[in-house]
Amino acid sequence: MNVKNYVRFEFFSCPENVSFARSSVGAFAAQLSCTLNDIEEIKLVVSEAVSNSIIHGYDNRPNEKIMVTVSIGYDNSLEIAVEDFGKGIEDVEQAMEPAFSSDATRMGMGFTFMKSFMDTVNVISEVDKGTTVRLERRFALASETDA
Ligand SMILES: Nc1ncnc2c1ncn2[C@@H]1O[C@H](COP(=O)(O)OP(=O)(O)O)[C@@H](O)[C@H]1O
Ligand SMILES: [Mg+2]
Repeated sequence: MNVKNYVRFEFFSCPENVSFARSSVGAFAAQLSCTLNDIEEIKLVVSEAVSNSIIHGYDNRPNEKIMVTVSIGYDNSLEIAVEDFGKGIEDVEQAMEPAFSSDATRMGMGFTFMKSFMDTVNVISEVDKGTTVRLERRFALASETDA
């Protein structure tokens, strides 16, 4: 991606910061040429990824570090990276299957939502080191949507 603008922020893994991250990324992404519905979808995937870092990566410990980087390309594309330094994922392929959760009380649909709303979902994870979820989506350029 040819980066036109980016923002990076880090915060504690407390549940209050899910809505902070969600709104912040939504506000930054508003400079893309896209619809309000697209922004809602972006906010949802950010909530899912950040919640996963808190709940799974850090087992709900509230004062660990999460880092979010958001980049916007000249081609009207968006890239979001959510990074934690928690317990990591042993089997990424299994974790990304619909309805898979390591916690029987959960739905296991987080990655499925991420995959359905974004063009690319890329997970890099190492046990006891942490997880980075990279989410990409390309929006139509204004010139492409013209008749
Ligand atoms: N950041 C993360 N750190 C460790 N494990 C994770 C992380 N994100 C996801 N996982 C693993 O992937 C599984 C599937 O995640 P997800 O699809 O969001 O479902 P759910 O959160 O409902 O369990 C989780 O149950 C967990 O085992
Ligand atoms: Mg989840």
